[in-house]
Amino acid sequence: MNKLWISLVFFLIPGISGIVLAGDFEELTASCESCHGPDGASPYSDVPIIGGQSTKYISDSLESFQIWGRPCVKSAYRSGDTSKPKTDMCKIAGGLSSEDIQKLSEHYSSRPWVAAPQKFDASLAATGAALHLQSCETCHQQGGSAAGVGPKLAGQWAPYLKHALKFVPTGEHAVPSTMERKLADFSAEEIDALLNYYASQQN
Ligand code: HEC
Ligand code: HEC
Repeated sequence: MNKLWISLVFFLIPGISGIVLAGDFEELTASCESCHGPDGASPYSDVPIIGGQSTKYISDSLESFQIWGRPCVKSAYRSGDTSKPKTDMCKIAGGLSSEDIQKLSEHYSSRPWVAAPQKFDASLAATGAALHLQSCETCHQQGGSAAGVGPKLAGQWAPYLKHALKFVPTGEHAVPSTMERKLADFSAEEIDALLNYYASQQN
């Protein structure tokens, strides 16, 4: 009798299940933020900023991790319960439903984009700006500060970007073939100049 009563209450007051879902979402974002920082504004140079990135890029990335379409690099939790074992984005994304992905992408894209406070070399940044305009601007628009076909790059952590680019020539991180060809034409120094340009954009 008691059980029936309880299930009837849940059935008749859908608001209760709504409250539970909101709590679950907060728990989910708290777990993301133990690595990606408050509102996805990562303070860690090896963890990308996701707050303010486009909805489409965030959801595409999570879907890509779900099918191991990007390298699954092990990472430690940075805050909260840091005794939890290391994990990776493929495992994390594997536990998300398509509804979670939709909500997370909308949530983080609505957060402000906070450029990483990082050192850069001004003269390399100037060289990088010219290279960017020539080869990267069509997809990473407004100097990489607007998401176009590709994600925002301006203000992203340079150590993370450098790490991400490593997996392009090996085919482990699929990007448009135009980007792959353009990158292949660049020397290590030119790529370094591009990264200094993105690091220099801190407004
Ligand atoms: C244990 C730390 C950790 C947790 C927890 C975590 N991430 Fe990540 N995330 C990373 C790291 C590190 C990368 C960079 C992966 C790589 O090496 O390419 C990343 C990459 C990403 C990217 C790709 C960003 C880009 O610029 O390409 C997205 C999107 C993302 N995470 C979203 C999330 C969301 C949403 C959650 C919560 C459901 C989450 N992450 C939880 C560490 C974490
Ligand atoms: C034809 C369009 C296009 C061009 C040109 C292009 N990119 Fe990309 N870029 C993309 C797309 C799309 C992605 C996202 C790939 C994915 O789904 O993970 C990307 C991803 C990236 C990433 C990874 C960012 C992250 O947060 O993980 C970096 C770094 C990058 N591009 C740098 C460059 C540079 C430097 C150039 C110029 C040499 C360039 N791109 C030219 C479309 C382009």
